[in-house]
Parts: sequence; structure tokens; C-alpha cells
Amino acid sequence: KVGSTLSITVVGASGDLAKKKIFPALFALYYEDCLPEDFTVFGYARTKLTDEELRNMISKTLTCRIDKNSEEHFAVLDSRLKEKEAGKLSNRLFYLSIPPNIFVDVAKCASLRASSATGWTRVIVEKPFGRDSESSGELTRSLKQYLREDQIFRIDHYLGKELVENLSVLRFSNLVFEPLWSRNYIRNVQFIFSEDFGTEGRGGYFDNYGIIRDIMQNHLLQILALFAMETPVSLDAEDIRNEKVKVLRSMQPLLLENVIVGQYKGHNKGSKSYPAYTDDPTVPKGSLTPTFAAAALFLNNARWDGVPFLMKAGKALHTKRAEIRVQFRHVPGNLYKRNFGTDLDKATNELVLRLQPDEAIYLKINNKVPGLGMRLDRSDLNLLYRSRYPTEIPDAYERLVLDAIEGERRLFIRSDELDAAWALFTPLLKELEEKKIVPELYPYGSRGPVGAHYLAAKYNVRWGDLS
Ligand code: BG6
Repeated sequence: KVGSTLSITVVGASGDLAKKKIFPALFALYYEDCLPEDFTVFGYARTKLTDEELRNMISKTLTCRIDKNSEEHFAVLDSRLKEKEAGKLSNRLFYLSIPPNIFVDVAKCASLRASSATGWTRVIVEKPFGRDSESSGELTRSLKQYLREDQIFRIDHYLGKELVENLSVLRFSNLVFEPLWSRNYIRNVQFIFSEDFGTEGRGGYFDNYGIIRDIMQNHLLQILALFAMETPVSLDAEDIRNEKVKVLRSMQPLLLENVIVGQYKGHNKGSKSYPAYTDDPTVPKGSLTPTFAAAALFLNNARWDGVPFLMKAGKALHTKRAEIRVQFRHVPGNLYKRNFGTDLDKATNELVLRLQPDEAIYLKINNKVPGLGMRLDRSDLNLLYRSRYPTEIPDAYERLVLDAIEGERRLFIRSDELDAAWALFTPLLKELEEKKIVPELYPYGSRGPVGAHYLAAKYNVRWGDLS
């Protein structure tokens, strides 16, 4: 019986993502005994690093170095892999944490298998998967010259977050939610992402993409698709992704009038001063790249007709948070109407899934304030993860890398999903760029541009995180 070996090659090993997320995830998987007995981690980087230096940076890693992306250097990697694999059934996982223009060279290498007497080869690719429909399509075509679709694992780490995984459980296995999941009971849904830091150190990358490509087109849209999909036939990867892609293809075109963009400006707070986005030396002067955006999206289907799906994403805001907020309709003929005064919106239920920080699910309900009178109050039924589940929640990358090793594709993006996501955003992105739309400036550390309120108000919505 031949033994089997797994080699995990992280391409872009000296990059930020590798250091902060990928290597720690690998280490956690190892520590929790989730990796096969015989495995090797290779780091592959442009930065000149010796094995020793990289080992100092991370645990349990071997490295090769590339100066440029020449075939010769990939051949070195290939021979290192073969050396390790000798005589064993060998599985290879490549993690491409590199700009997309190098994907294809690496894919070529990944497909260099000496014989067919080997195990599987899988390639995890990190976004950006292109900048628009054309470049993404081009990338897909090039990758497919060397890899089959079932070998490509397009990662969106938001799908690996605990509460995103729980979204389907909450909806499909609770009678108090499942029948309510439609336009009949839901007024609007909000997907909110905010960070309390700017693009520090990443301005060069960011300026070429902007917040819409960085967060909305992928992370928020993926969550929206999971939220809005019809019940899949089963929990099988293809069944789930079939439903998600239907949602994406049912979206109405995203109009410029339903989008607002912003960019942070410098701000002094006490003795501290915070830089503007354009103060970053790697950002071109006068850049119009948005660091904030809000959008109202609509679905053309029977379940969601007319329901605004609002998205908001921004950097350098007052807080770091990601959440889904579901605002329910009014109770028809509410007996207690007069107890709410004129602001009946304050009486509607709201379900909040706080993805981070401090994971929680809470439901705002109306409740009588104890006492002799009849005063009502909105209170929370609160499931705070750290109280209910004191064990540590695994990082998204840990779950996703393990899924890739196990060949589980449910949480990875299929190429038709990617196409549909770009088809939705590309016309808008082109229009923003062609019309040179000037972003509304907002101070670093603020709640973002007021334009976001007007956009929501146009659809009678209040942002739940600000009310
Ligand atoms: C990445 C974006 O995909 O997600 C970053 O490129 C962003 O700009 C990050 O900071 C946020 O991820 P998380 O898991 O920290 O919310």
C-alpha cells in the first residue's frame, strides 16, 4: 500500500495575507490535527527569503524563491515537490495569494504532473478575480487552459465566517423564520461592512480597485445571494451554488442613482491627526477611488419583488463591524399603535446577525416595561456567542483551507457565480469611472457620508446600525 502525502504551496508567501491569515490557518489546522500525517508546507515568494528566514516568520515551512516568474523557477518548485512526494500518492494544494497577472503562470506549474499515478491537484485563488467582466472572463479562460473548474477553488473568506455559515441554519431550520423570509414580511435587508482604519500600506493595491470591487462585488454580494436564495434541493455544493447564481442573475441592473460613493479625508481628533486617503504616498494625487459606497439593489423575482437590499461598505469609519440586518414589516392593525407615537417604524422587529466583532444574533422585539402603566419598549432577544459558546470560533481561512483539502466546494465561488457578480457591477463601475464621479468626502473616523442616509431614505429605510 502506498502512503499518501499532501503538499501545500503558498504562492505569495511573504505577503501580508499569507503572514496574517494563511500560515496561521495552516498552523491551527495542524494543531487541531486536521492535516494528514504526512504533509509539507512550501512557501513560494518573490521576496528573497531563505528557508531559515521564512521558518522564523512562520512554523513548519519550506521555501523556494523566485526572482521573476520564469518557468525555470517553477521547475525548481516542481522538483522540490517531487522530492517530497517520491513513491507516494501525492496530493497538491496551491494557494495563490498573488496578483491575478501571475495566476496563469502558476496554474501552468500546478498542472505539471509527472504521471497520472498521482492524487489530486487543487488551486485556491484569492480575489481580485479581475477588475470587471472582461478581465475576469479572460482570467477564467486562461486558467481553464491548465485547470479544470473542479480544481479551482475561488475563495471569498466571508463565506467562511461562522455567522455566514449559520445564516442558512437559522433560516431553514427554524419555523419562526423560514415562512417569514420573503417580501410578505420583510421590509428591507441591510448588509453593512465598516472598518475603523484606512488603507494604510495597501493604497497601491486599493486604488486600482476601490471599495466596490474590494468588498461589495464579492463579500457583501455573496452574503446577499445566500440570504435571498430559494431552498436548495440539498446541501450539496452544486445545489446551493445553483440557487445562489439564480439570485445573482435575478438582480435588477444597478443604477448610478442607487449608489453613492465616498472617500475619507484627513481629520484631527484631540492631539491625534488622521490622514486623508489621498495622503497615502502610494495613492495618486486627486484619486477618485471610493473608500466608501452604499447601494440599493433589487431582485426581480416573486419572493423579493420591491424589497430594497441595501449595502454599505467603508474604510476609516467610526467602528469596525460587519452585520446583516433584517427589518420586518409593521404588524397590520397593531393594537398598541398609539403606544409608539407617530414613529411606527420604531415598532417593527429587526433581526441582526453580527458577523464581527463579538458574534451575535439578536432580535428586536416589543415588550412591556414592567410596572403598573402600559409603556412599551424595544428589547433584544440576544444570542451572544461568547456567552453561549465559550470555545474559540475558527478563523474563516481555517475552515476554507480545510474544505479545499477535503474537496468540499460549497463555500467557494463557481465561475458562473463570478460572471453573474461581475455582470451586475461592471456597468456601474464603468459609469462611475467614465463620468468621473467625485466621491463625497467624509472625515476619517466618522459615520460616513450623509449621502448614504438620503439613499436609504429614498426607499423609506433607516440604516439599522445608526438608528
Ligand atoms: C479583504 C479586503 O477581502 O477583506 C480588505 O481586501 C478588508 O480590504 C478585508 O480589510 C476584511 O476582512 P475581515 O475578515 O477582516 O473583515
